[in-house]
Amino acid sequence: MTLALWRHARIASFAPGRPWGWIEAGALLAQGDALRWVGPEAELPAGLRPEVEHDLGGALVTPGLIDAHTHLVYGGDRATEFELRLQGASYEDIARAGGGIRATVAATRAASDDELFASAAARARALMREGVTTIEIKSGYGLSQVHEARCLAVAQRLGRELPLTVRTTSLAAHALAPEYEGRADDYIADACRWLADQQAQALVDAVDAFCDTIGFTPAQTERIFQAAQRLGLPVKLHAEQLSDQGGAALAARYRALSCDHLEYLSADGVAALRAAGTVAMLLPGAYYFLRETKLPPVAALREAGVPMAIATDHNPGSSPCLSLLLMLNMACTLFRLTPEEAWRGVTTHAARALGLHDRGMLAAGQRADFVVWDAEHPREIAYRFGHNPCRRVVRGGVQRMQS
Ligand code: NIG
Ligand code: FE
Repeated sequence: MTLALWRHARIASFAPGRPWGWIEAGALLAQGDALRWVGPEAELPAGLRPEVEHDLGGALVTPGLIDAHTHLVYGGDRATEFELRLQGASYEDIARAGGGIRATVAATRAASDDELFASAAARARALMREGVTTIEIKSGYGLSQVHEARCLAVAQRLGRELPLTVRTTSLAAHALAPEYEGRADDYIADACRWLADQQAQALVDAVDAFCDTIGFTPAQTERIFQAAQRLGLPVKLHAEQLSDQGGAALAARYRALSCDHLEYLSADGVAALRAAGTVAMLLPGAYYFLRETKLPPVAALREAGVPMAIATDHNPGSSPCLSLLLMLNMACTLFRLTPEEAWRGVTTHAARALGLHDRGMLAAGQRADFVVWDAEHPREIAYRFGHNPCRRVVRGGVQRMQS
């Protein structure tokens, strides 16, 4: 396997031990798709003879970014709903009137596999242009056995056809399918059966649900978690987004990888996440776009030492955002994370939220996924917004120029 050296770099490795995992005058050595060595260039082990050498001219290098919560595969858009909300209708009103998620379900079911793939690939490319190398994609706009499986298969196809790692999450418990009106418990029973089928077809890496007044009750959510547990699949939860349902504490009992949104998280919920080692996934795009005013309890999460991740939550209804860099800035300005916390939120903590141990920091043994930036320090990238200083992306040791 080829040994390749990137030298003359300033590295924010996010490895533990020092702020930013900072390495001044650093170098990275990759063998195949993994990092063999990362450190100060002056300490490069003498015996290693790289076949390829890249001089980065003192540029900043960070791990590849991880967008660990997206709903990237869907048909249509919800621009009309945006107009309605601007005229005063609430997100919940629109959902209860049969719009919202259900409108996207109709458009998704009507789209062909190729149409779903083409629209999702264009969105994925936009994220990749900012240095995203790993992405989680949820189903949840199919809401039937066939359409949920189709959306998961389209997500996996993105991972095969683009230079991107895709992790899929089954979110059949996103909204009640129209065919099941008034029969939410029957829907959950069927969704649990579909999960077994998705697992048998190797379509799914994790299981999610939407536990809220316009989603599913904690009891229904728990049935989904039990089905996931029987199949050996990890769980996560859209929890405490619009109200406090005690979803985070429930998910923590199932050792959830992450609980996501969390604006209405209680002190008990914070303690439950901490005890379970669950990641708090904060989604400033949805907070902003729904004009939410209740902030997630960031100070309490920080105090408790709960790892915080940041993602776009890209979806057509509550966060039609295709910039993880903008989320870095919003996590700081809206949620008062420090720039370093925000960066850890799209690297190390995002990896943890996906149960991935081979990425999220730059160190020997990790995947050679990294980004070269036109910036001096990552804090600058959190500070600017509407600006993309991504210069090159190296994924699995293979270098790509940015277009
Ligand atoms: O993460 N909260 C539920 N799910 C999405 C929104 C889905 C939609 O409105 O289409 C979210 O915000
Ligand atoms: Fe979401």
